[in-house]
Amino acid sequence: MRLKDRIALVTGASRGIGAAIARSYAKEGAHVICVARTVGALEELDDEIKAAGGSATLVPLDLEKTEQIDGLAAPLLERFGRIDILVGNAALLGRMTPLHQYPPELWEKVFKLNVHANQRLLRAVHPLLQASPAGRAIFLTSSASTHVRAYWGAYAASKAALDNMVETYAKEVVTTNIKVNLVDPGATRTKMRAAAYPGEEPETLPAPEDIVEVFIALAEAGCERNGERILARDFCGIAK
Ligand SMILES: NC(=O)c1ccc[n+]([C@@H]2O[C@H](COP(=O)([O-])OP(=O)(O)OC[C@H]3O[C@@H](n4cnc5c(N)ncnc54)[C@H](OP(=O)(O)O)[C@@H]3O)[C@@H](O)[C@H]2O)c1
Repeated sequence: MRLKDRIALVTGASRGIGAAIARSYAKEGAHVICVARTVGALEELDDEIKAAGGSATLVPLDLEKTEQIDGLAAPLLERFGRIDILVGNAALLGRMTPLHQYPPELWEKVFKLNVHANQRLLRAVHPLLQASPAGRAIFLTSSASTHVRAYWGAYAASKAALDNMVETYAKEVVTTNIKVNLVDPGATRTKMRAAAYPGEEPETLPAPEDIVEVFIALAEAGCERNGERILARDFCGIAK
């Protein structure tokens, strides 16, 4: 019970890495606030968490509607008084295509979720993290942000912007109880990975459950790491 009685908010909790993080946090004793659009998948997650003895609150929300993120803070403050752990996991891959052919609407959509929604979330949740004795924030990045490759378009550029934003936030919170870090999960068996690499055999990749340890460790009140970029595979001892 490494996260006993901690309150965690996880975005993109309906499937993939976010769902695995939510399940693992609940198993470690946290109450998990699960954010995503797909109500049915959130309800299934809730059933699983409850069956395993944990507890969750479901928040069906389209994070691209960034103005709705502002409305999260007041009810969370009233119900919980604080947030101990924030995981900015939800993201959109967009399209693998040359930059000069990238559809402008899709470019903006990817930035809206991968960058703008995370800033809006930080803005809304920062006072709640401050209200925690040990606020921990974790954002999911990708090797695409630093290892520049052709055709990764808005996804790579948006993750680079996210990296900068999170590193900036880490510097701004050094004198507080908040610690914030980036995690690069590496190739993981999810819907997003399958969309990026349709020819790949999914079973050759680590499952989301294989990398949850890094997210638990960074969420613990005793974790002192701040402003770091951590490779989940290295942290979890997964062979490349
Ligand atoms: N899988 C990999 O190999 C890999 C590698 C490097 C980095 N990452 C990063 O890891 C994170 C998780 O990726 P994943 O592979 O688990 O992706 P995924 O399987 O596509 O899951 C994405 C999650 O985000 C949610 N989401 C998407 N759009 C949303 C919106 N507008 N509002 C609210 N929620 C939304 C989805 O739920 P709904 O559709 O229900 O809303 C889903 O729960 C991402 O930040 C990704 O960039 C993944």
